[in-house]
Amino acid sequence: MTQSKTWSQRFESALHPAIARFNASIDFDIELIEYDLTGSAAHAKMLGVTGIISSQEAEQLVAGLEQIRQEYRDGKFSPDIDAEDVHLAVERRLTEIVGDLGKKLHTARSRNDQVGTDTRLYLRDQINQIRSSLREFQGILLDLAEKHVETLIPGYTHLQRAQPLSLAHHLLAYFEMAQRDWERLGDVCDRVNISPLGCGALAGTTFPIDRHYTAQMLGFSAPYANSLDGVSDRDFAIEFLCAASLIMVHLSRLSEEVIFWASEEFRFVTLKDSCATGSSIMPQKKNPDVPELVRGKTGRVFGHLQALLVLMKGLPLAYNKDLQEDKEALFDSVNTVKACLEAIAILFREGLEFLPHRLAAATGEDFSNATDVADYLAKKGVPFREAYNLVGKVVKTSLAEGKLLKDLTLAQWQELHPAFEADIYQAIAPEQVVAARNSYGGTGFEQVRKALESARERIMN
Ligand code: ARG
Repeated sequence: MTQSKTWSQRFESALHPAIARFNASIDFDIELIEYDLTGSAAHAKMLGVTGIISSQEAEQLVAGLEQIRQEYRDGKFSPDIDAEDVHLAVERRLTEIVGDLGKKLHTARSRNDQVGTDTRLYLRDQINQIRSSLREFQGILLDLAEKHVETLIPGYTHLQRAQPLSLAHHLLAYFEMAQRDWERLGDVCDRVNISPLGCGALAGTTFPIDRHYTAQMLGFSAPYANSLDGVSDRDFAIEFLCAASLIMVHLSRLSEEVIFWASEEFRFVTLKDSCATGSSIMPQKKNPDVPELVRGKTGRVFGHLQALLVLMKGLPLAYNKDLQEDKEALFDSVNTVKACLEAIAILFREGLEFLPHRLAAATGEDFSNATDVADYLAKKGVPFREAYNLVGKVVKTSLAEGKLLKDLTLAQWQELHPAFEADIYQAIAPEQVVAARNSYGGTGFEQVRKALESARERIMN
C-alpha cells in the first residue's frame, strides 16, 4: 500500500518526501491541538445525541480525546511529519487508543470546517488574554498618571514646543488608545465567535447533525448561516490583524516617545537597569532596547495583515489549501502583540523614571506660553487675531534680544497694549498655563483629575 494511511484507495503511490514536508502543517498547527480536541469532543457528543453513533461510542471517543489531551500536556504526544496536520494526528492517535471506533469521529465532518473551528476557538482565547493584558497596561498607565498630575511636560505639535501639559494628560492619551483597542477586540470577537462546525467540506452533510448544539457547546454565539462561507471565511482573522496592527501602532508611538525622552537631548526619563542594555564597545551607553524592539516588531504584524489580505484576494469559494497559510501569520501576530504588551507593561511599571526637574526646566524656558498672552488680551476684548499678531511681534523681538516673555517689564507690556496688567506674569507661568486649560478633555489639572477618575471607573467593566 501507499505511504499515506489517510487518503482513499484512489492513490497508488506515496507522496514525494519533499512534497510531504511542503504540504504538512503539523510543525505549526500543533498550536491548535487543545482546541482541536475540544472541537472534536463537541462533534463526537453531537454524533451521539443525534443518534448518528451510539451514545456509548460517543463517550468512548470523548474519553480517548481527553486521554490525548493528557498525553499532550505530559509531553508524551509529539506527532511527526507524516501525520500531515494536527487534525489527522489526533484522529490517528485516537484510533490507536479506541481502535476502529476512532475512524467514526470524522463522520459528518471535514477538516475544512474542523480547522475553521479550531482557529476560531484559538483566536477567541487569545483575544481574551490580549484584552486582559490591555487592561493591565491601562492600570499601569493610570498608576503612573496619578503620580504625575502636576508634573509638567512640554507638549509638541510638529515636534516643536507648542503648549505645556500635565504629564498625566499625556499618559492618559495612551490610556484612551488602549481603551479603543480593548473595545475593538471585543467587537472583533463577536465575529470570531461564530461556528463553522458542520459546514462539512463545503456543502453541509447528509447526516442529521445538530449545528446549534455544537455551536452552543463550544460557546459560539451561532452557527454560520451558509456552509460555503463558513469554511472559507477568514474575515475574522483579518479583522483581528487590523486590531492587532492598531495595538502595535499605539505601542510603537509610545515607544518612539520613550526613546527620545531617554536621549541626552531630552533627558525627560531615565531607564532603570532592569529595562536597558549596554553597548559591547561604548562603555557609557544605556540603550532603550525594549521600546526599540516594540517599534521594530510592529512591522511584523503589519506584514501579516498584508499577507492575509493578499492571501484572500481572488480566492474562489470554498476551501483552498492557500488557507493553511493563515496560521503562522495569526500565531506570530498573537505572540508578538502579547510579548510587546508584556514588555511595555514592565517598562512602565518599573523600568523608567520621569525626571520632574528636567521636565520643569523644559517647560519654563520657551515660548510655549505665547498662546496664553494672546488669550489674555482676547479675554479683555481684543479680537483674537489682532492679539495673535501682536504676540508674534513680541516673540520676534524677545528672540532677538535673547529674552523670554516672562522677562518683559510691566512697562514694556503696557507699551505693547494698554490692556496688560500685573496679572500677566501669573497668566504665563507654566503651571497656570496648564491649569487654565480647563475645557472638557483639556490638560487643566482639574480636568485631568476628573479624567483619571472616569478612567478608573471605565476599566472596572
Ligand atoms: N491543514 C489544513 C489547513 O490548515 C487543514 C485543512 C485541510 N483541508 C483540506 N481539504 N486539505 O488548512
